[in-house]
Amino acid sequence: MSYQVLSLKWRPQSFGDVIGQDHVTHTLINAFKKDRVAQGYMLTGPRGVGKTTTARIIAKALNCPNTKDGVPCNDCNNCQEITDGRNLDVLEIDGASNRGIEEIRNLREQIKYAPMNAPYKIFIIDEVHMLTNQAFNALLRTLEEPPSHGKFILATTDIHKVPSTIISRCQRFDFNRITEATIGEQLSTILASEKITADDESIHATTDAYARWSKYVQALDLVRGRNRSGSDTALAITSTTIRYIT
Ligand SMILES: Nc1ncnc2c1ncn2[C@@H]1O[C@H](COP(=O)(O)OP(=O)(O)O)[C@@H](O)[C@H]1O
Ligand SMILES: [Mg+2]
Ligand SMILES: [Zn+2]
Repeated sequence: MSYQVLSLKWRPQSFGDVIGQDHVTHTLINAFKKDRVAQGYMLTGPRGVGKTTTARIIAKALNCPNTKDGVPCNDCNNCQEITDGRNLDVLEIDGASNRGIEEIRNLREQIKYAPMNAPYKIFIIDEVHMLTNQAFNALLRTLEEPPSHGKFILATTDIHKVPSTIISRCQRFDFNRITEATIGEQLSTILASEKITADDESIHATTDAYARWSKYVQALDLVRGRNRSGSDTALAITSTTIRYIT
């Protein structure tokens, strides 16, 4: 039986899969329904709440030729390539390791070229607060006068370090912390659906509340990998296994 990695399988692919951020996803769906597209998006909030995930879903909603009621199809080439991070019209840049003026100059060169197979050329800049002042200035000039095919999705855990001139050029979305109750519910859904049993204590075992859920699902993958005996037998998770692994 082929085994699907849980952390990939349960990564949200559409707005409806993003949990605990309804104020964000409803606004986005409504905007895409009406073809109201912002030129830049700013996603901010704590770690592990769905910012990068939502950035990729926005990219799909912008470039999927088959969106229905504002929701991407997840089936076409564009959607699948964006999910796998290999779509040539969607460029993901890690702001933490590409902080300088050179990287942003490079981006400004690339954005001039039209997209290959989609309406938009999209730049996702994660951890955008890490850019240097010079880099921010260069980015601002592009945000002020982008080519019509150019879109930006910026994400940050530290909005206070982003110049207000940049923020004001974007439509801003503030992501919530996800409550323990919501994390617990989602974990229970995953466990039930995967036919894995777990004690309550294990669900509360990891200490980082915001990253807990994704860490837990990664931990399940590790446990499964170690227990692999050819068959996909029922798996029981205890707090000790989770503590040991995370
Ligand atoms: N709101 C959410 N709804 C569903 N899954 C989520 C949510 N937030 C995080 N996750 C899970 O955690 C993983 C990491 O989320 P990510 O989008 O990278 O968080 P961030 O960019 O805010 O740090 C995702 O792949 C997903 O599986
Ligand atoms: Mg992120
Ligand atoms: Zn699609």
